Amino acid sequence: MSGRFVLLGAPGAGKGTQAKRVCTRLGVEHLSTGDLLRHAVRTGSPAGKKAKGYMDAGKLVPDEVVFSVLFERLDDGLDGFLLDGFPRNRVQAEELDRRLDAAGTPLDAVVDIDVPDEHLLGRITGRRVCKVCGNVHHVEFMRPRVEGVCDVCGGELQQRSDDRAEVVGQRLAVYREQTAPLQAYYADRGLLATVDGDRDADAITDDLLAALGEHSTEGR
Ligand code: AP5
Repeated sequence: MSGRFVLLGAPGAGKGTQAKRVCTRLGVEHLSTGDLLRHAVRTGSPAGKKAKGYMDAGKLVPDEVVFSVLFERLDDGLDGFLLDGFPRNRVQAEELDRRLDAAGTPLDAVVDIDVPDEHLLGRITGRRVCKVCGNVHHVEFMRPRVEGVCDVCGGELQQRSDDRAEVVGQRLAVYREQTAPLQAYYADRGLLATVDGDRDADAITDDLLAALGEHSTEGR
């Protein structure tokens, strides 16, 4: 299967968790702008230096910085991909459309993972990420077998710097103001499906695979 997909959802909705699962199954590239930006920060690249302050404050990184890290990858000619964390506002959505339309490769589907606001804060503040391989755990909902240790590689688990409660409120406010309106943007284009994200992770994966598989480019 292949296709060009966008995964929408609030901070903590489970985009990263689900993207890893479905990309393996669909055989498409997982492109997370959050991961690309964190890598840029870690390596001290010019984009990372510009992005760090915005990320630590829970604000959106300027569009041109995000475009520089993402389109370097997308312009490589990737045909099958799933975008996680992009687009985040209307300017980004229009730029993505412009580039994909110019290449004659428009999006196939957009899926929003819907989680009630009252569950997002606990998901984010309880998240622990492996310093070595980036695998994501949760202190309550996806507990590692050994506390503080990654199940996959044995690396040390840590909290993301922007997952502190004082930053999370800002991230959720930015989401509501700038990113949530993209649901209407994609619904108007006939691309949007919604999946209930307030369930067991396996049930969400099944629904996502059904929603994305239906729009994959296989057999067209
Ligand atoms: P980014 O990394 O994209 O963060 P986000 O969108 O805020 O999303 P999260 O990574 O917080 O959550 P998620 O939905 O992936 O949830 P996860 O699967 O980990 O962005 C970070 C920052 O980078 C932004 O604030 C901004 O500064 C910048 N940035 C990134 N992209 C940008 C862009 N396009 N433009 C401008 N700036 C940009 O799950 C969360 C937790 O819940 C985990 O612990 C997990 O184990 C647990 N969990 C998952 N599923 C379930 C379940 N079903 N039940 C219970 N727990 C679950």
